[in-house]
Amino acid sequence: MNTPPPPTRPIFRGAPTGLLGLGTYLPSRTITNKEICEQIDSSEEWIRSRSGIQVRYWAEPSETVEYMAATAAERALEHAGIDAREIGCVIVSTVSHLHQFPSLAAGVAHRIGAGAPGAFDISAGCAGFCYGLSLASDMVAAGSARHVLVIAVERLSELLDPTDRHTAFLFGDGAGAAVVGPSDQPGVGPVVWGSDGSHKDTIRQTHSWAALRETPGLGRPYITMDGREVFRWAAYQLGPIAEEALARAGVSAADLDAFVPHQANARITDELVKGLGLPATVTVARTVEIHGNTSAVSVPLAIEELLARGDARPGGLALLLSFGTGLVWAGQVVRLPPAPAGPPRPAVTAPATDTTPTAPTKETRS
Ligand SMILES: CC(C)(COP(=O)(O)OP(=O)(O)OC[C@H]1O[C@@H](n2cnc3c(N)ncnc32)[C@H](O)[C@@H]1OP(=O)(O)O)[C@@H](O)C(=O)NCCC(=O)NCCS
Repeated sequence: MNTPPPPTRPIFRGAPTGLLGLGTYLPSRTITNKEICEQIDSSEEWIRSRSGIQVRYWAEPSETVEYMAATAAERALEHAGIDAREIGCVIVSTVSHLHQFPSLAAGVAHRIGAGAPGAFDISAGCAGFCYGLSLASDMVAAGSARHVLVIAVERLSELLDPTDRHTAFLFGDGAGAAVVGPSDQPGVGPVVWGSDGSHKDTIRQTHSWAALRETPGLGRPYITMDGREVFRWAAYQLGPIAEEALARAGVSAADLDAFVPHQANARITDELVKGLGLPATVTVARTVEIHGNTSAVSVPLAIEELLARGDARPGGLALLLSFGTGLVWAGQVVRLPPAPAGPPRPAVTAPATDTTPTAPTKETRS
């Protein structure tokens, strides 16, 4: 784990940067637990009680990673009131762009009419949005770019073996994007991030693309995972990382409006909330119920959902915390962007076969 210098005072340093706008995209096709159970030996109740998930979205063939990323990016630009040509760099986090090159970012930049910004992809699994946000904020603070688009996009349905009961029910598709730019007040705190490659086999691709060439009939690679090990690691190792992110931002849990952990499993979120002792005033994002685990997309999707439902205050402070394949992790405190346009969004209604998911809750613990 990296060891940052001890904080002596609030460390929102450098030229202030902020989240100026947010945009998301969810595919058109919802997949219920009932549908998942048609291909695996499981039950709707097992999936709901062990993971919290009741429904997820899977992309149709026309909903490519480029299309979803560009749509989320255009929505973020509109939300921020920024023209695509004002973007100095595009960062895309994804593990499901099935081309080694060129980067997805370059294609997305072209598609949204961004001119000729810097553009590159990052691979930080489910922590990718927090990684990208940190890079974007540092670029703006340093003067390398005035506005940066950070996009997370995943089509994990394409990397799933629908007959593997350990993974088939967990993952969903979608995209989330944020415009990061100069701000009157500090809006992106220092990142606390790290990696532990001794766990590199815990969540991985079954085999490499090269193995396909070398072994005829091998079949395409899929996500494979030791869920129990990931669960244990996340539930018990992330607490100190969250506390360090708060300390480095110079804020306490009581200053937070919202806690937005990566939406991997509702029970991991429960453990984290318990360990952090969050006051009742802090809203906890619990969108895994309605999105599944969308990898790096889960954090921007959850932020958007909190704001759209009126469950968190624009301008309020939120602690973001994410982890994923690597294993890697990242957390930082941010000031929430403006709420999406339109009236507050009602609680999402799940398909008739499932129990209705609840809205994100204010924790009842004191
Ligand atoms: C995957 C996950 C939901 C499984 O829940 P769990 O409570 O850990 O379940 P376990 O793996 O311990 O399995 C418990 C039992 O259920 C069984 N089981 C596994 N998958 C099942 C399924 N889909 N349906 C029914 N039973 C299942 C197991 O075989 C095991 O049976 P056994 O006790 O007879 O051996 C959970 O481990 C998890 O969410 N882990 C984190 C995964 C994650 O976040 N990955 C991405 C990180 S970015």
